Amino acid sequence: VVVNHVEMDHTGALPEVMEVAKPEKLFCSPKGKENLLKHFHRDDWPYEVVKTGDRLSLGGRTVTFIETRMLHWPDSMFSYLMEDRLLISQDAFGQHWATSGRFDDEVDRGELMQQAAKYYANILLPYSNLVQKLLGDLGEMGLEPEIIAPDHGLSWRKDPGMILEAYGRWSQQRAKPKVVVVYDTMWHSTERMAQAIAEGLAREGVEYLVMDLKVSHRSDVVTELLEAKALLVGSPTFNNGMLPTVADFLHYLKGLRPRGKIGAAFGSYGWSGESVKLINAELEAMKVDLVDEGISVKFAPSGDDLKRCRELGQRVGRTVKETL
Ligand SMILES: Cc1cc2nc3c(=O)[nH]c(=O)nc-3n(C[C@H](O)[C@H](O)[C@H](O)COP(=O)(O)O)c2cc1C
Repeated sequence: VVVNHVEMDHTGALPEVMEVAKPEKLFCSPKGKENLLKHFHRDDWPYEVVKTGDRLSLGGRTVTFIETRMLHWPDSMFSYLMEDRLLISQDAFGQHWATSGRFDDEVDRGELMQQAAKYYANILLPYSNLVQKLLGDLGEMGLEPEIIAPDHGLSWRKDPGMILEAYGRWSQQRAKPKVVVVYDTMWHSTERMAQAIAEGLAREGVEYLVMDLKVSHRSDVVTELLEAKALLVGSPTFNNGMLPTVADFLHYLKGLRPRGKIGAAFGSYGWSGESVKLINAELEAMKVDLVDEGISVKFAPSGDDLKRCRELGQRVGRTVKETL
């Protein structure tokens, strides 16, 4: 039995498997052994600790192990079947996608890449430096997989190079001229500001998306942000803070450590008006380069206020085009 990753969605059934298979050996990385013991408390299992480059001959086939620490757990590793050039990549290159297809050539390519991007943005983004190093290591080891089989979603057999190339791009956090406007609102004032900003972006002809956190899940917003250059965040002031949905989104995004983005905040308020300042602080904490001090509007936006929002959209649109 080979354990490439100790997380419960991969090992939940391990005690039963061990019981039925009664394997001679249980292969895992050094951290894998440590973490298996912390999950299952079975020091009677026949652990065989392997490191990068170790090989296991199965007779007709040889498995090479490659440790992939912190991608995305300390214990993670790949197993590579050399004769078949089959890379069993555990969580890397995967998608949280349940479909009747099993391989990349059986499904719509655009949907597959969107699902793979969603997986990367939500799980692997914080470890982008390690992804880059791993891609380099795979090249140095001369591994050229013909099939990449992740533990979630579909396997890549038609064009494994496509997902390797995408991981190269995503791990460099390379952006395109795209802007995401994300907001929540109670009485639609902040929403009208978001729409005016979008009008400005449209005038500049950049790709943009307006996402209302009441209907867009945070995981979908960060997926759209993966290749976006700019992020504009809006919230009304709510009990001297921002709306909980916006706070939730910013907290989630900060943990994913996005890099190289520009941004600004906007929002309506009634009397104290803290939201824009608080959003600015959150954006700065995640190293977003603020292109504006942000737009605060008391209650419903006037024609002039909406004009300022359109101008902000245009300025962001121009900056995005200039910097890329
Ligand atoms: C429950 C509640 C709490 C609020 N708390 C504040 C506050 O602490 N400070 C403030 O300036 N405005 C506060 N407001 C006023 C809103 O910020 C204001 O109505 C704003 O225009 C709403 O923007 P929206 O239309 O985008 O929801 C509060 C409103 C509600 C309903």
